[in-house]
Amino acid sequence: MKKYDTRVCRTNVPHGPFNARNSKVVVLVDVVSYPIIFYNSQVDKENYFDGTFMSSPSFNGGYKVCAFLDTTNSKHSVLKGLILSTLARLEKLGVKREEACHNFVFLAACRIQFIWRLHTRLVKEIRTAVKEAVGVTVVYETLRMDTPVPFQTVKAISNHEASFLIKKDELIFGYQPLATKDSNVFNNAEDFNPDRFVGYGEKLLKYVYWSNGKEIDNPTVDDKQCPGKDLIVLLGRLLVVEFFMRYDTFEIEFGKLLLGSKVTFKSIITKATS
Ligand code: HEM
Repeated sequence: MKKYDTRVCRTNVPHGPFNARNSKVVVLVDVVSYPIIFYNSQVDKENYFDGTFMSSPSFNGGYKVCAFLDTTNSKHSVLKGLILSTLARLEKLGVKREEACHNFVFLAACRIQFIWRLHTRLVKEIRTAVKEAVGVTVVYETLRMDTPVPFQTVKAISNHEASFLIKKDELIFGYQPLATKDSNVFNNAEDFNPDRFVGYGEKLLKYVYWSNGKEIDNPTVDDKQCPGKDLIVLLGRLLVVEFFMRYDTFEIEFGKLLLGSKVTFKSIITKATS
């Protein structure tokens, strides 16, 4: 990539043929090419979620779940509509946000690395946290730097030619760890900057893609953006608030797990003094 100064290239998807029947993809690694995978009218997302591999529907009672359905599949809008309207109705019916959160924390157990240890006390503080609007840019920066779902895959349904020809039926693979660290858009892109999205920086939110869409957009039944988007940002904020309210200092060791990051607390954590 460095040699040819390219942002789009053909390669084998990580894991290779072992679990991916078709491992040949066109990979997108910058913020400008990346949104190609969001153009629903030009790509097919049936059977493609994050990688080129689809787990057997028998893991889900024999049903293909929403995440593996393309927007042209009528079941997609029905199922996604159900999720979106459940989220909206919980609020409308006056179900307390903390109760809703408890339920979603339970449902989202598979994303546990992110909402790890989000317990009762944290959820109770939801109102004050929201009022204070603390930590949101820290959360956006975390989602940019260490996106929890690093890959997205789609299939081209026709030829695309801008400066790179993508042929019909080729798999297009978005590689976020590089795309959202694009130094053409983000200054010191490899560094964690908690204030990156403050003030003028807000304009950069359109390049934050962790939810399979732009951070400035909202998920609908007609797209493939994560319906849990706002909830996850909210939970992330609560996690940040909780840490800073409870502790003065703590020492961590940062490591890697197969599918994400590992954080180990090394020092005895001091209780917040004020
Ligand atoms: C940190 C937590 C989460 C992350 C990082 C995340 C990320 C994502 C991503 C990247 C996609 C698109 C994948 C693809 O098609 O390539 C997605 C889709 C989806 N997410 Fe999430 N998600 C999270 C939490 C949740 C929660 C809490 C819910 C439950 C409301 C949820 C429900 C879904 C559903 C149903 C889809 C499929 C959407 C569609 O087919 O249109 N996610 N998520």
